Amino acid sequence: MADKITLADMLDAKRQGRKIAAVSCYDYTTARLLAQTGVDMILVGDSAAQVILGHDSTLPATMDFMVAITAAVRKGAPDVCLVADMPFLSYQLGAYEAVKNAGRFAVECGAQIIKIEASSAYLDVIKAISDAGLSVMAHIGIRPQSISRIGRFKAEASTAEMAAELIALAGQMTNTGAVSLLLEGVCTEVAQIITDRSEVPVIGIGSGPGCDGQILIAPDILGLTQGPKPRFAKSYANLADATVAAFADYARQVKAGQYPDAEHCYRMKTGEMERLQNLLRGEE
Ligand code: KIV
Repeated sequence: MADKITLADMLDAKRQGRKIAAVSCYDYTTARLLAQTGVDMILVGDSAAQVILGHDSTLPATMDFMVAITAAVRKGAPDVCLVADMPFLSYQLGAYEAVKNAGRFAVECGAQIIKIEASSAYLDVIKAISDAGLSVMAHIGIRPQSISRIGRFKAEASTAEMAAELIALAGQMTNTGAVSLLLEGVCTEVAQIITDRSEVPVIGIGSGPGCDGQILIAPDILGLTQGPKPRFAKSYANLADATVAAFADYARQVKAGQYPDAEHCYRMKTGEMERLQNLLRGEE
């Protein structure tokens, strides 16, 4: 418990100029591995709807699904600062529903921070969740849950007017109670200004090096995702090729009768086979 990484540690890191490493992860096994690294924060992102469930947007992620995977990640990484992602329709229906759903993440999963994809329309929701005693991370910039309205995603705040609007929105979020910001796809210069102006930790994804911390999704880091990726999605390994090779090797061995070999089989105790043969003979 004493070693659990908390929001206070994120604030210390910001004040001391230490960068925060965050990863979006969706399962117990990966979380266990992440807990053995220097990663400070894990977000259980609703991108799980795409990466785990194969949907073409994040919209189909439900509260029950998010609670199940967030609890699994907490089990794998008990001491990492855990951020839960409010899925589509978990907070859009009003403050009451939002507090109830945010509370589930705290009570059922041990999440320390609740992330909301926020526009100025959700200031009341952020205030209500904060007033209930929970910590809110406001996700601004590109907001994947708005895909139906926007149609496609492109870098945010690329003109002076758009930048000024986003900078003002960031201020509104923190004034209303957000204890952290997540900037997605925000132009580097603007992300730097928001980070410099904010007293709370600012985590960036595709928002340049000026943020207090960075987040990527685990499958991108591991090189497990195939097909086109956003330009910021750097891979630190190529586990897709390694995984395909391992599965292909397994399939080949099974078909060739090479698996399982003696090393991977259970055997009866010494002398028991003879006894069994006698028993079976007695049956004849
Ligand atoms: O859902 C998610 O994983 C996220 C990150 C991409 C920031 O929101």
